[in-house]
Amino acid sequence: MSDAVRHIALVPAAGSGSRFGAALPKQYTVLAGQPLLWHAVARLADHPSIDRVVVVLSRDDTRFAALELNGLRPIIDARHCGGATRAASVLAGLRSLAGEVGADDWILVHDAARPCLPAAVIDRLVGTLAGDAVGGIAALPVADTLKRADADTRIDATVPRNGLWAAQTPQMFRYGVLLDALEHADLDHVTDEAGAVEARGLAPRLVEGDPANLKVTYPRDLRLAAQLLVAMGDHS
Ligand code: CTP
Ligand code: MG
Repeated sequence: MSDAVRHIALVPAAGSGSRFGAALPKQYTVLAGQPLLWHAVARLADHPSIDRVVVVLSRDDTRFAALELNGLRPIIDARHCGGATRAASVLAGLRSLAGEVGADDWILVHDAARPCLPAAVIDRLVGTLAGDAVGGIAALPVADTLKRADADTRIDATVPRNGLWAAQTPQMFRYGVLLDALEHADLDHVTDEAGAVEARGLAPRLVEGDPANLKVTYPRDLRLAAQLLVAMGDHS
């Protein structure tokens, strides 16, 4: 496969943020002066290896149009084709790219809710996976000792953490591989792109992520994300 393949970031941003629990969808929560989604898009658009950034919005999204994208590289476009689950949103985004991308082009799916993606993680994904037939994901080896709880919130078992990694995004796959995997997936149950690819009998590679690349899930995650953004250098 040639090195001329493109790297296209796909950002699912059609969720409601139910665990976050705010009236505004989580991806529009403001952090360090800009919405979470803006930060995720800016980190991707700033990286020289990324050729395009495609954002998948819910059908009734009216807020994306108000984002300040003027100062960013003009490689960003949005599509109002989000679905009921994250996997459905990603699949709709992939389908909307048919005819615009090649089967071997890389798709980097990245959560709108991860605003602190370090450039080095993209470097490692692009570098490690170049020439790979399948792709892989950013992830971190689990460091804590793991406990399985019983119904009474007491420890039922200690789970060996050997070989266990926590998945992050970006998850980077060939367009053709990822489209095929999601076309065959149970969209209500698959929780990440790699899971759908694994179900097709393929073995995605684990690429070292970064603890800074946290996902904002609960309001308590915002304070750490804000501190990380300051430490990483602000874009706004
Ligand atoms: N997402 C999406 N379409 C959906 C559900 C989620 O595009 N139907 C996106 C979210 O907007 C987010 C990413 O997938 O960028 C990761 O999802 P998550 O962090 O779980 O966000 P939400 O699904 O919005 O939050 P929650 O699960 O708490 O409702
Ligand atoms: Mg969710």
